[in-house]
Amino acid sequence: MTDKKKTSGRKTVRDKAVRVKTARGRKNSSTRWLQRQLNDPYVREANRLGYKSRAAFKLIELDEQLGLIKQGTVAVDLGAAPGGWCQVLNQRGADHIVAIDLIEVTDVPDISFIQMDFTDNDAPDKLIAMLDGKRPNLVLSDMAPNTVGHPKTDHLRTMALVEMAWDFAFNTLEEGGHFVSKVFQGGTGNELLDQIKPHFKTIKHVKPKASRKESPETYLVAMNFRKPT
Ligand SMILES: C[S@@+](CC[C@H](N)C(=O)[O-])C[C@H]1O[C@@H](n2cnc3c(N)ncnc32)[C@H](O)[C@@H]1O
Repeated sequence: MTDKKKTSGRKTVRDKAVRVKTARGRKNSSTRWLQRQLNDPYVREANRLGYKSRAAFKLIELDEQLGLIKQGTVAVDLGAAPGGWCQVLNQRGADHIVAIDLIEVTDVPDISFIQMDFTDNDAPDKLIAMLDGKRPNLVLSDMAPNTVGHPKTDHLRTMALVEMAWDFAFNTLEEGGHFVSKVFQGGTGNELLDQIKPHFKTIKHVKPKASRKESPETYLVAMNFRKPT
């Protein structure tokens, strides 16, 4: 997808950028957010195709590049709301999808969802119970904490979520399974990466095109899990 260019016949046309006027009572940051949403081709495409979020295109891209989702995949989606990744998992053949988020996921059929904080002590056991005795082939985490604008604090909070997601993946993944996690600030911390590496055949950091250039997010993709003996 190109940014503002569309090709129609032999002519190249440019969509007019939508400008949002500042409204009384609306903060400048909200106006900027609204303007960015209205001019974002992925947001428009997500609306057109009925995806709950532009994030759907990130998983589509990762799957197209790396072949993560197979027919019959059992998947766990951590930080699933509003549900774009669940929709993509469904469309691409996953047949048991367990999802969790602080916020409710609505109108996404064929998923088993729990509204809960993943950092709660009982969250992992609840998710395991929802897997009905199956081990996941795919553990995905798109969780992002609410940032406070203090880089060190934000980084620590994010890393804590990645570590917890990894801990869950390590304890549950099926042999040959994959773990995908959003990470920030140039990648996974070295210590954590050293823990994860020996358990997978391949490790990559990928920034999908759908991930905003200005965002420090990338995705850690760890493929072909080797179960500890
Ligand atoms: C970028 S959004 C996920 C978008 C999703 N992948 C999609 O395709 O629609 C990040 C989500 O992580 C969730 N999240 C952040 N911290 C969480 C936590 N501790 N437990 C559960 N969900 C959490 C947020 O509520 C938010 O909905």
